Amino acid sequence: MSHELWRLGEQYAGQLLEPEACDPDPIVEVRRWLGAAIAGQIKQANAMTLATVDGRGRPAARIVLLKDIDARGFTFFTSYDSRKGHDLAAHPYAALCLWWEPMHRQIRIEGRIERVTAAESDAYFASRPRGSQLGANASPQSQPIGSRAELEALVAAVDAAHPGEVPRAATWGGYRVVPDAVELWQGQTSRLHDRVQYTLGPAGWSRARLAP
Ligand SMILES: Cc1cc2nc3c(=O)[nH]c(=O)nc-3n(C[C@H](O)[C@H](O)[C@H](O)COP(=O)(O)O)c2cc1C
Repeated sequence: MSHELWRLGEQYAGQLLEPEACDPDPIVEVRRWLGAAIAGQIKQANAMTLATVDGRGRPAARIVLLKDIDARGFTFFTSYDSRKGHDLAAHPYAALCLWWEPMHRQIRIEGRIERVTAAESDAYFASRPRGSQLGANASPQSQPIGSRAELEALVAAVDAAHPGEVPRAATWGGYRVVPDAVELWQGQTSRLHDRVQYTLGPAGWSRARLAP
């Protein structure tokens, strides 16, 4: 780990996390933490574990990239026809987990899942490089595929079909996790870590300290 990252870790571990000092809105606080991680040059600070559950109650987890945070929640993009897409169709709840080792920080987010609007997916898709657009449209994500050559042929077919702008395939787009529980975890010495849990109730968000 670089000298700068060690210093970053020292800086954050020394900083006690008090529920009262956190923003009443966890989305604001998470955005602040992500901003600090990006400013601290943590690599792929927006990579997060996404956990889903299938129709039989069986969990699965994988990494996706957090692409947007707004007052409604946390957005990532994927194939609606993937394993995770099928899980979310059967059971529209998810959990997210981010971990930034150099800062001794973890964030856990849970909530209901909704699809973002087609216009929002179109806008994000349009912002991607052509290669990513072709890959997203061509790959039957989570399905068995015979060979890499077969995959490349699928991409070439989409490429040939759209010499100009590539339209977004309807099977690809964004999901938003609308949070009802958020936990901020700040590592401290002697395993006496700080944990602040936000819970959404009828009166809005409340905060509590959890034992480490
Ligand atoms: C760092 C990293 C970032 C990733 N980002 C995404 C992403 O934003 N969207 C996505 O669909 N898959 C992403 N993946 C691939 C997923 O982990 C996974 O392989 C894929 O979505 C298929 O998952 P599923 O079969 O459970 O649906 C990423 C993988 C890694 C390692």
